[in-house]
Amino acid sequence: MTKRVAILISGGGSNMVALAQSMLGEHPARPCVVVSNDPKAGGLAKARSLGIPTASVDHRSFPDRTSFEAALSASLARHRPDILCLAGFMRILTAEFVAQYEGRMLNIHPSLLPKYKGLNTHARALAAGDAEAGCTVHEVTAALDDGPILGQARVPIQPGDTPDDLSARILPYEHRLYPAVLRRYSDGDRTPIRLP
Ligand code: GRF
Repeated sequence: MTKRVAILISGGGSNMVALAQSMLGEHPARPCVVVSNDPKAGGLAKARSLGIPTASVDHRSFPDRTSFEAALSASLARHRPDILCLAGFMRILTAEFVAQYEGRMLNIHPSLLPKYKGLNTHARALAAGDAEAGCTVHEVTAALDDGPILGQARVPIQPGDTPDDLSARILPYEHRLYPAVLRRYSDGDRTPIRLP
């Protein structure tokens, strides 16, 4: 039975595109909707050009997190997702929301977790003088950027790197790692993937 994958974005959606373009042929999953918390997110137009249904639930239209998440859940439910992929989704989700999807919700985070949970990950790796940086795909749990690791890609830090240099070097790895993890995860395989 084909798994239905909802992808949540907030911005350009390059990871969403990589995921959507990977779900072809014998892949056991297909994208069922792309939802953004920002109606102006560039990724919504990219999803439409890929023929994927889209929706936006503007978090600024709600008085609090609970009412936003109720609307988000209702929007998602219309598409009956089996798996949620957070892909550049920049809203912190409450434990109540996560509980609806725990065990079937993934996120990609631009650091080698458990290092550098939260924001500004590349700047923090540079400030720490780390020799490498990277990205992690993990299952989403109530604790931020903290769930079981399903994949990581390691990238060397080079002298003189800026956070933008690191982000640009790591992003192509994100676009390989996330689809590889989703492919396995769709088959119920949680064996972690390490790149390279
Ligand atoms: C990426 O660096 C990703 O790791 C983080 O959001 C950034 C933008 O992602 N979660 P995208 O281009 O919107 O997929």
